[in-house]
Amino acid sequence: MTWLITGGAGYIGAHVVRAMAEAGERTVVYDDLSTGIAERLPEDVPLVVGSVLDGEKVARVLAEHEVTGVVHLAAKKQVGESVDRPLHYYHENVEGLRILLQAVTEARVPSFVFSSSAAVYGMPDVELVTEETPCVPMSPYGETKLAGEWLVRATGRATGLATASLRYFNVAGAARPELADVGVYNLVPMVFEKLTENAPPRIFGADYPTPDGTTIRDYIHVVDLAEAHVAAARALQAEPGRTLTLNIGRGEGVSVREMIDRINTVTGYDLPPAVTARRPGDPARVVASADRITTELGWKAKHDVHDMITSAWSGWLRLHPEADRG
Ligand SMILES: NC(=O)c1ccc[n+]([C@@H]2O[C@H](COP(=O)([O-])OP(=O)(O)OC[C@H]3O[C@@H](n4cnc5c(N)ncnc54)[C@H](O)[C@@H]3O)[C@@H](O)[C@H]2O)c1
Repeated sequence: MTWLITGGAGYIGAHVVRAMAEAGERTVVYDDLSTGIAERLPEDVPLVVGSVLDGEKVARVLAEHEVTGVVHLAAKKQVGESVDRPLHYYHENVEGLRILLQAVTEARVPSFVFSSSAAVYGMPDVELVTEETPCVPMSPYGETKLAGEWLVRATGRATGLATASLRYFNVAGAARPELADVGVYNLVPMVFEKLTENAPPRIFGADYPTPDGTTIRDYIHVVDLAEAHVAAARALQAEPGRTLTLNIGRGEGVSVREMIDRINTVTGYDLPPAVTARRPGDPARVVASADRITTELGWKAKHDVHDMITSAWSGWLRLHPEADRG
């Protein structure tokens, strides 16, 4: 088996490459390095620099490396940017996927794992979000992920391609400092950035209908997430034509205020947060039911929020040593 990992030089992709290697799977990375970092990859993993929008190049790589499965992580992922640049997001995330699927089906590659997101659910009004909770995305980014799932599933039905759409909840942490997320788009790095400036971390709205008034999310360690990809890849390989749609979360809600408290404790800072206005489109609570993935794949998260914060902080300090409080 050789797995093509698109977006493999990215934050999550590099962890998937590492988990695949640890599980004894061969991989080849296909990445345009628009946000990826080649140095994240082990030396023995081939990297082909190219865009999924280049179907001929993808087809060549599938043939040359005798690829037998694809994990497709390559995408643009910034919700705010997607509101300003919807055409760019649809082009990269939906057209890019269509072109990739065309090459994959023509090459008769049998298995395809797709990076989806909890953003497909939008503002779910439920205690635990199951895979049956209606999908009403609130941003062009979320729409491209939902459209991507439709495209993947329809292609599977028409061609027999085995597919898994994995809906990640809030990803955090790192396996090693050099694999950490370098973007500042999620809560954990956003708080780190404020602490580094010696400024109070921000809470967007403390008047939500939650116990402490701040929004609640489900955080998943990137190492656990990567292992879920290995489990999904193996399940597709074992059962040709299988179709899976799975939440990847821990089923445990943590509020923004709790996260900031825990981050202060881990980092040695003591900056009380400043409350500002709500951000439009932020749901009060988004917590996964992670039952289906356990039933289907036997996967369960092993790492807790403390592991996520400590490993993410080590990665942050590598790039921002001035933030270290010893
Ligand atoms: N990070 C999260 O919290 C999160 C949550 C839910 C879903 N996701 C999804 O997970 C996937 C990976 O996200 P990430 O956080 O690792 O982001 P990332 O930006 O670090 O990784 C994306 C990778 O894809 C590459 N890429 C982008 N467009 C490409 C193209 N057209 N052709 C080839 N390569 C391309 C980039 O260079 C980068 O290496 C994305 O599909 C994202 O939407 C991420």
